[in-house]
Amino acid sequence: MPTLERPIWRSHLHHSLDSNEHLRESTYLQFTTVSCQGLPEVRTVVFRGFVPNSHGLMVHTDVRSGKISQLRRNSNAALCWYFAKTREQYRLSAKVVVVDAQYAQSHPFSALRDKQWLTLSPSAQQSYWWPKPRTTIGLNDEYQTHGSIPATQNLEQVSPHFCLLVIEPSQIDYLHLATTPHLRIVHRVSQQGWHSQNVNP
Ligand SMILES: Cc1cc2nc3c(=O)[nH]c(=O)nc-3n(C[C@H](O)[C@H](O)[C@H](O)COP(=O)(O)O)c2cc1C
Repeated sequence: MPTLERPIWRSHLHHSLDSNEHLRESTYLQFTTVSCQGLPEVRTVVFRGFVPNSHGLMVHTDVRSGKISQLRRNSNAALCWYFAKTREQYRLSAKVVVVDAQYAQSHPFSALRDKQWLTLSPSAQQSYWWPKPRTTIGLNDEYQTHGSIPATQNLEQVSPHFCLLVIEPSQIDYLHLATTPHLRIVHRVSQQGWHSQNVNP
C-alpha cells in the first residue's frame, strides 16, 4: 500500500477517539515497560494527545516512578488500547523519549513539557509535589491528611518531578471485532514511511 501523509492507523485512531469520546476510559491505555530483571511491567496511563506535527503520543508521569528507571535502561515499550463502544484494539510497539527537567532546553520537547504542565488541574499539579512514589508513608506526610502540598510550593513553577513521555510508535497492530470476520491490520514504519497490511485475525 502507498505511504500516506497521514497514515491509515492515525485516521482509524482519531475515528476511535471521536466515537468513544463520551467514555472516560477511552483515553486510558495499558503501558508496558521492561523491568531491570528483563520482565514485563504493565500499568494504566492517560493519553494526552499527539506531539504537534508528529505521530508521537504524549503521556504524563512522575520522573521518580519505577517506569522511568526502566525506560532509561530500555526505551522499548508496548501499549494496548481498547475502545469498548467500537470494539477496536490497538497494540503499539514503540520507543519512548523521557522529557524531564534535565532535557535539552533548546529542544522543542522541553517547551512542550512546560506547555503540558499548564494543561493540568491544580490538584494534578499538586500530585507532582507529593513524596517519592512507592516509599513508605510517613507520619508527617501532610498531603495524606490534607490532600495538598506545603504552602511554600508555587504551582506556577513546573515541578521538577513532572515528566513528559513521548511515545514514538514503530508498529501498530489493529483489530476490529465488530466485523465478521474480524479485521486485523498491521501498520509498520520504515525509512519510506508507514505501510499497512491486512492479515488474518
Ligand atoms: C485510570 C488510571 C489512569 C492513570 N494515569 C496515569 C498517568 O497518566 N500517568 C502515570 O504515571 N500514572 C497513571 N496511573 C497510575 C499508574 O497506573 C501507576 O500506578 C503509576 O504510574 C506507578 O507506576 P510505576 O511504578 O510502574 O511507574 C493511572 C492509573 C489509573 C488507574
